[in-house]
Amino acid sequence: MESKYVLMHKNTEVAEVFINEMIGGISKIGDVINADHLPPGTAKKGNADHRALNEWWTGRSIPASRSGLKNALDNLGISNARSFLTKSYGLSLSDHYWIKPAGTSLAWDDMNFFENDFSEDIGNILFGGVVSENMSFISPDNTSDGWLKKRWKISDGKRILLKAGSDPFEQEPFNEVIASALMKRLNVPHVSYEIVWIDDSPYSVCENFLSTETELVSAHRIMQITPKPNHQNSYEHFLNCCVIAGMKKSDVIAFIDRMLTVDYIIANQDRHFNNFGFIRNAETLEYISPAPVYDSGTSLFYNKPVKRIENYESKPFRTDPEEQLKLITSFDWFDASELNDFTNEVGEILYPLMETGFIDYVRIKKIKDIIAARIDHIAELAAG
Ligand SMILES: Nc1ncnc2c1ncn2[C@@H]1O[C@H](COP(=O)(O)OP(=O)(O)OP(=O)(O)O)[C@@H](O)[C@H]1O
Ligand SMILES: [Mg+2]
Repeated sequence: MESKYVLMHKNTEVAEVFINEMIGGISKIGDVINADHLPPGTAKKGNADHRALNEWWTGRSIPASRSGLKNALDNLGISNARSFLTKSYGLSLSDHYWIKPAGTSLAWDDMNFFENDFSEDIGNILFGGVVSENMSFISPDNTSDGWLKKRWKISDGKRILLKAGSDPFEQEPFNEVIASALMKRLNVPHVSYEIVWIDDSPYSVCENFLSTETELVSAHRIMQITPKPNHQNSYEHFLNCCVIAGMKKSDVIAFIDRMLTVDYIIANQDRHFNNFGFIRNAETLEYISPAPVYDSGTSLFYNKPVKRIENYESKPFRTDPEEQLKLITSFDWFDASELNDFTNEVGEILYPLMETGFIDYVRIKKIKDIIAARIDHIAELAAG
């Protein structure tokens, strides 16, 4: 069964699309109404590229690798998370795209999750809850990315994201807090994470950094704006795409310098191109700034027993962390004195994880030593 929708960008009609509800994909594109507003990287010569738009649309659904998803789908008797997308109009709390059933007069103001309430049903089910009879699919959890168990909630009117850790150490939420503390000291714009405990498990909680005025465009999307020529490496191609998108090259470099430095200090293994991005205005399409650094939890050897901690592979530009450091243009902004006694703060942050028996003192000591050594290395590079 195929239904007709209008792909919307906030209040702008972008294109007519036909969606196959069973498969959850875009089977056909009708008239393109406003090509400028197509999701970045899905236009080809002023027209919509079917393959690229379909990849973008299906990539909006909960990834198949999401922890606990299979259970949730089994509970619901549904085979594929993509079929949730149309049930919640494709709305998200990270951007301003959505789909309007053709012939209806639904409006962004009444639909968006930034200002309107949403159901907690899908979030409950993703967290292992049971299916109720009249459950509602109207939830931004249908469009949230990433493999860790997570859900959106409304708390005091704010949209907050709860994100779990993983066995055996449950370290990811604490790594987010350590990364927040590090970036606070270094004055690097970041999402601030805190810990909440629910049923003896720790979760990181952060506020939404977007609004009805601003949306996130991932680096992955930016890099689809133009094909990568063979002579360019991924870093050069990325910078080139940012410039084509209208950003100032020096601002992008300054941001990447900071992000790569932080990632080196925390030995981040997962800074893929969907784990950083840029904020733009969905009406003017103007890029405003890099997004504050988010999702730094897959770091500090989060799943390795102390005895197995050794080398790791970095992302997104180089797999060798030392090689990736060489892409940094300037350390002028790096003030090592801001990191005096930082490892003590790390110890304090991790303490509750030891108290609850998830990690021991040997692990805390090892993490502190790793961070200290990596800070020393950056300080040496910064000193020239
Ligand atoms: N504070 C936030 N405000 C708005 N959107 C957010 C926020 N944090 C994350 N997101 C969006 O949700 C997505 C998933 O979140 P996040 O990257 O933190 O999860 P993850 O499970 O750790 O991902 P990964 O699979 O990369 O490890 C992000 O890619 C981003 O699009
Ligand atoms: Mg992520």
